[in-house]
Amino acid sequence: MLFKNQKATYMAYPSELASTLNQDAAQKSKQWLSKWPLLSPNATPLWSMKGTAHALGIKSLWIKDESKRSQLGSFKALGAPNALIKLILKHFPAFEADKILLGAYREQLANFAVVSATDGNHGRALAAASQSSGCPCTIVIHAQVSKEREDAIAAYDATMVRIAGNYDESVEEADRIAKENGWTVVSDTSYEGYTEIPRDVMQGYGVMAAEIVEQLEDNQKKPTHIILQGGVGGLAAGVFSYFWEHYGVERPIFVIVEPSQADCLYQSAIQGKPASATGSVDSIMAGLACGETSQIAWRFLQPSVDYFALIEDQDAIDSMLQLAQGYHEDTPIVGGESGVAGLALLRKLVEQDQLDVLELNANSEVLIINTEGATAPELFKELTGLTAEEVIAKQ
Ligand SMILES: Cc1ncc(COP(=O)(O)O)c(C=O)c1O
Repeated sequence: MLFKNQKATYMAYPSELASTLNQDAAQKSKQWLSKWPLLSPNATPLWSMKGTAHALGIKSLWIKDESKRSQLGSFKALGAPNALIKLILKHFPAFEADKILLGAYREQLANFAVVSATDGNHGRALAAASQSSGCPCTIVIHAQVSKEREDAIAAYDATMVRIAGNYDESVEEADRIAKENGWTVVSDTSYEGYTEIPRDVMQGYGVMAAEIVEQLEDNQKKPTHIILQGGVGGLAAGVFSYFWEHYGVERPIFVIVEPSQADCLYQSAIQGKPASATGSVDSIMAGLACGETSQIAWRFLQPSVDYFALIEDQDAIDSMLQLAQGYHEDTPIVGGESGVAGLALLRKLVEQDQLDVLELNANSEVLIINTEGATAPELFKELTGLTAEEVIAKQ
């Protein structure tokens, strides 16, 4: 359930990585996205969960709450839109970056079609950014994507294609459709020969890290540990790289948590190279149900992630309930299935009396990210007994 990565280093952020992902690029993304009406104009909250930290036996627990980022419901609202802007700029260098999502070039983009596979959140963000800028968008979903997630994407005018296979097969199908029609794939995962666009998606995720650094440093705080959930690894690479560059040799301990049946990053750590998941890749944590590691993300994760951990679906369900109810007098939070993975790992470690395995103790100050809210509202209600609105009303 836990793997210590012997390849993790504590050196200054290497220049060969900085040439791909860096703090300046994240700041630029922040500026480009800041005018998009679908995003909150303010930084998302960084909740200090004092009661939960005490109950877990650690000093502090901060939760960056991406359920508040956008009506799109997740941090993915930062990735695909950033990549789409950069892609459009590459083809239309005279356009102004911060006007693209405002629809200023709608007519010129009417035939600039994009396509992507998704397990929900990435496709929704790409569909919304395409609708705002005027690009036609096709989204490929796999058999396990729920009807409510499909409808949420289609609401942004995307053409939907559903295949019978799994996530990885939907990635292949998107690639095939793009080649057949001369369209561009805007994917959040990278594979052989396809790295530029997933890099730009990850760069957008750096916006969260930039906000967290400001929010923590306003209070003269620094985390000892950062725990992030892993799908293909893009979120973790985008956020950890920012913190690595920022803190250098003094960086916090980095941990990745995945569903045990979609353990591609855990397996990559064991094998020392991008690897596939060993399980069914079917998890209630839909955003984390990925079978293949993003190759470009792995370049950042192998030399920096100290521990890889696995959790079960039930761990996530229990943590959704805990967050929604506001245990230990902490603020109630709308945490979706994939959003709560960091808390689920902490609770599991406490239950198994294994906190020390991650070098956690009473002095630890831990940062986690609630990466999504109720992106599948009916499922959220079924699992927590509450609607997102009821949780928000108690905040
Ligand atoms: C809510 C949520 N959290 C985390 C992730 C994981 O991100 P990545 O696949 O970049 O590792 C996803 C991916 O879709 C997601 O939707």
